[in-house]
Amino acid sequence: MVLMGFVDTVDLFIFNIFLSSIYIGTWLPVFQVFSIIKKEKHRQTYGLELIASENFASRAVLEALGSCMNNKYSEGYPGQRYYGGTEHVDELERLCQQRALEAFGLNSEKWGVNVQPYSGSPANFAVYTAVVEPHGRIMGLDLPDGGHLTHGFMTEKKKISATSMFFESMPYKVNPETGYIDYDRLQENAKLFHPKLIIAGTSCYSRNIDYTRMKQIANENGAYLLADMAHISGLIAAGVVPSPFEHCDIVSTTTHKTLRGCRAGLIFYRKGVRSIDSKGKETMYNLESLINQAVFPGLQGGPHNHAIAGVAVALKQAMTPEFKAYQKQVLANCKALSNALIDHGYKIVTGGSDNHLILLDLRTKGTDGGRAEKIWRLVQLLVTRTLAQVYKSALRPSGLRFGSPALTSRGLVEEDFKKVAEFIHKGKLICANLSQKFQEQVAGIRAEVEAFAGQFPMPGLPEL
Ligand SMILES: *Cc1c(COP(=O)(O)O)cnc(C)c1O
Ligand SMILES: *[C@@H]1O[C@H](CO)[C@@H](O)[C@H](O)[C@H]1NC(C)=O
Repeated sequence: MVLMGFVDTVDLFIFNIFLSSIYIGTWLPVFQVFSIIKKEKHRQTYGLELIASENFASRAVLEALGSCMNNKYSEGYPGQRYYGGTEHVDELERLCQQRALEAFGLNSEKWGVNVQPYSGSPANFAVYTAVVEPHGRIMGLDLPDGGHLTHGFMTEKKKISATSMFFESMPYKVNPETGYIDYDRLQENAKLFHPKLIIAGTSCYSRNIDYTRMKQIANENGAYLLADMAHISGLIAAGVVPSPFEHCDIVSTTTHKTLRGCRAGLIFYRKGVRSIDSKGKETMYNLESLINQAVFPGLQGGPHNHAIAGVAVALKQAMTPEFKAYQKQVLANCKALSNALIDHGYKIVTGGSDNHLILLDLRTKGTDGGRAEKIWRLVQLLVTRTLAQVYKSALRPSGLRFGSPALTSRGLVEEDFKKVAEFIHKGKLICANLSQKFQEQVAGIRAEVEAFAGQFPMPGLPEL
């Protein structure tokens, strides 16, 4: 059945090959992509996926993503398109917007949403384009401290992210002693730097953000507050971590991390009254037109309607009791993993986690994160080395990030995560003590990991 799609596209080739040759080797190139996908499916099924930004989308999401919605051009917005034949695409985009607001408990009089961003990075760039003039100032958590590239990342030598080339960026940091965001220093620096926009959002931070404090700092400087909830949007939709919406002007997100949809981005923006001055004069938000224009025609062309379809399906799933139970399990599993690793003698940055990820500090374990990550990779344990290692961070030169969302989607519970912690520890032991038996040891653990992982069901399309 599933093969049909592939055969469809190559049936002429097959026919020709069939006529001209019966040599089986000739057939193989025809199925090149199919065979690569099969290998990837195998890798995902028999490995332990601990990369905190990844997840396994449902079959329904993938089917919507693989649908005919891919074929349609629809530049513009519902009701104002530059193409004909968009009546169904309009209906889809409106439905997706409605579900996005509903999934996060938002009133459509106070909030609007743009569902067209291709992913999280373009969504952030669109926000800056909308509300910060060229070379205007932004402040985000520095990348080595757990922020994202698109929060204005640069080094002493080079502007790395386009968000630091086209906007002026001054990062804020975590306190190197505690691992928590240093809000006091952010407040001080914001008073000097006068940012137009402050970003509250992280890719590599295991604690809740104090949005109240961030909003207060933004207000002191007349800055907009953007929450980039890319990593935690699923947790927020389920109500298991604090929501940023009450305190922020704009909220951006990806849809494929804890939210479990396909790869895309969303931008939520406030509507209505922004502020009232001492004389009672109201200032209104004008974010809706600024953000919509920044996404299209500012930065993007035609929306990815197949992705919007996948996101709409994921958002409906995100409103079910099962999704809430899933997110609670994500948190419980993360705690179980954290505690098990602490029991094995590991040091966790901040001593634990409020969300779906932990940061392991390997400095005390006589090895660096890079080497450990390579060995874990060899035994099919997938984790993330923090970019802190590439861009030298004093705090986390050996930082490694572990997340629970993907394996929780496969049905693992707390007990299983204890087992995962054992595999992590076994891998680490080989790493600390490289012996001549290295190859054998790796093969042994890898076989155990594959047997363990293979027991758990895999969401998605059965064959692909
Ligand atoms: C993942 C992430 C993004 C970017 O998402 P892409 O889809 O990879 O472009 C943006 N911000 C944060 C905080 C992220 O974690
Ligand atoms: C390292 O390996 C050697 C030889 O196999 C062994 O004697 C020693 O106990 C090991 N050390 C650790 C810390 O595991």
